[in-house]
Amino acid sequence: MKVSVIGAGNVGATCAEVIAHHELANEVVLLDIKENFAEGKALDIWETSAINMYDTRLVGTTNDYSKTANSEVVVITSGLPRKPGMSRDDLISTNAKIVKSVTENVVKHSPNTILIVVSNPLDVMTYCAYINSKFPSKRVFGMAGILDTGRYKAFLADELRVSPKDIQAVLLGGHGDTMVPLPRYTTIGGIPVTELIDKAKLDAIIDRTKKGGGEIVNLLGTSAWYAPGSAAAQMVEAILKDQRRVFPVCAWLEGEYGLKSIYLGVPVILGKGGIEKIIELKLSGDEMKLVNESAKSVKEVMDVLDKLEL
Ligand code: LAC
Repeated sequence: MKVSVIGAGNVGATCAEVIAHHELANEVVLLDIKENFAEGKALDIWETSAINMYDTRLVGTTNDYSKTANSEVVVITSGLPRKPGMSRDDLISTNAKIVKSVTENVVKHSPNTILIVVSNPLDVMTYCAYINSKFPSKRVFGMAGILDTGRYKAFLADELRVSPKDIQAVLLGGHGDTMVPLPRYTTIGGIPVTELIDKAKLDAIIDRTKKGGGEIVNLLGTSAWYAPGSAAAQMVEAILKDQRRVFPVCAWLEGEYGLKSIYLGVPVILGKGGIEKIIELKLSGDEMKLVNESAKSVKEVMDVLDKLEL
């Protein structure tokens, strides 16, 4: 089994390292446009194999897409990350050109692959990969919900002093400040979170989750990578092992949640065919209102992309 990761920056390299470390595939190809960069990262990761005890092979390449041929899954991380003061949407025109060209190259060599998009602005870059790949939407989706719920769970684990392993949560909407964590569907070892934490504290955690990406950008001067890279690797695992895991994923909606022709975060079943099923939750009026607001802001950026006519 072969997985390719496009973009050997922090997110791509972390994703490749996690895939190799956990032996999720036989081969991981890391590709970057910067001369020798992916080769160096792949070699450094491979040199951990005897230390971390795995035998997944790593291949680094400078822009040679033939090396990615016949990948089962391709993770697209290419594009510029945010700098302090920037929103994810500020990256659109630069990253759209990059994601378009990456998608075209990937598809040429792996016509049956599954694409996981990680580039920002996430929902719209996933749309960009979808229209340029001409793949069915079940094979093109974006990583955001696992990262966003990962942050939410980490903050809850700190507040409640419990293991993050015991926290279950789902989140809807775009990967931006309008994302919609759902306290009604958050449980700690099966116990509704609302029984364990007061509303003010939970609201503060939800607010911090929404701005979780920005919190890291402010601390580091660039975007996060450990959590995004690991989250993408977890999606790769679900696909390669046909685990049918239930994850929030940025998926193409065709009427689900009353929304049409839009990429947005929703819970799905992820298996060997990609998105095996979109799960529709029965939302309250307030929850649906938040989802609609989030959809509206994603749609506005999708329209910007359409008008760019790349
Ligand atoms: C974040 C970026 C990767 O949320 O979107 O950290």
